[in-house]
Amino acid sequence: MLDQLKDQPADKILSLMAAFRADPREGKIDLGVGVYKDAEGRTPVMRAVRAAEKRIWDEETTKTYTALAGDPAFADALVPLVLGPSVPRANVAAVATPGGTGAVRQGFELIRMMRPEATVWVPEPTWPNHLSILKHLGMTVKGYRYFDGSTLAVDAEGMLADLQGVTSGDAVLLHGCCHNPTGADPEPATWSRLADLLREKGALPFIDLAYLGFGDSLELDAAATRMIAGGGECLIAVSCSKNFGIYRERAGLLMAVARDEATAKLAQVNLAYLNRQNYSFPPDHGARVVSTVLGDADLRADWEAELEEIRAGMLGLRESLAAELRRLTNSDRFDFLTRHKGMFSRLGATPEQVEAMRRDHGIYMVGDSRINVAGLNARTVPVLAKAMVEAGL
Ligand code: LMR
Repeated sequence: MLDQLKDQPADKILSLMAAFRADPREGKIDLGVGVYKDAEGRTPVMRAVRAAEKRIWDEETTKTYTALAGDPAFADALVPLVLGPSVPRANVAAVATPGGTGAVRQGFELIRMMRPEATVWVPEPTWPNHLSILKHLGMTVKGYRYFDGSTLAVDAEGMLADLQGVTSGDAVLLHGCCHNPTGADPEPATWSRLADLLREKGALPFIDLAYLGFGDSLELDAAATRMIAGGGECLIAVSCSKNFGIYRERAGLLMAVARDEATAKLAQVNLAYLNRQNYSFPPDHGARVVSTVLGDADLRADWEAELEEIRAGMLGLRESLAAELRRLTNSDRFDFLTRHKGMFSRLGATPEQVEAMRRDHGIYMVGDSRINVAGLNARTVPVLAKAMVEAGL
């Protein structure tokens, strides 16, 4: 029977990791998968995470099951971090999931349970795995304009015009901050027009929040999510992989913001049911690290400080890349790099130019010309800038 299976396309982002490893060149540069790296190219365990792990090791007395929704302390720590005072806690259902991807998957499944015929609107472009999961689930998908390839910024009017086509009961996927793959986020005024439009249409916003704290600050990066959640029902998929640096621990949370407490309870039962069908209990270790860090004033302050160092470092790399390109080209046409937020920027290169940079300079980026800014350092910024210019950008 196994021979009845069809071959599956390789994940474009993950297969880059293998291609990079196989490249024997000394000076190769990995700007592929979205993993934070410091100036030495390491992905460190954050200080507060290490301290929390020590504490858990000392204090944990059992490894028995928690609850289907995960340890409640995790949601109780993460919901206020994301939502602030925008929604009463009792109106929020939440389950721990295996990473942000698990939350995205459970969110799509919840939409399918509520309304199997719902159309899920996705930004063009979006994280390719969104599309892959939706296809796997057999859900109806429609794209809406998001990114203007000429300005390398959000196409606000195009987005709002396309979303006029949304009908009541559709779901609209949004990136809460630090859009992946482009780095282009809507302006606050655009967010508020978008929130009004979706409310008017009776659509369900589904916010993917994987890079909280990587854009402007923990508070500012949560602002759009809070505005939407404050206005009515929505789903939010939160990842702790990047901002806590606990990628392999798979710590994510799916929240369902309801209009009232009774509906939140109903959503909670359904989310726990979904966890049970898919994997029973979600992983606990990463979630416990997060609730330990957020629940201790000192650890939390240290985590926030280190997150800010990481954010400032990426911003500095953006600025030095833009400055180097300004110097080389005598123009400011690459200044969009400093307006993009978070870990990624789409450079606007053609697939041929992306290939040329890989072939001639050993620079690896996703085929749509998305770079992971954190993959750069002071030595490699000029190398990338030179490669971009040589490739004819
Ligand atoms: C990325 O977009 O590079 C990250 O979200 C990692 C992944 O799983 O694709």
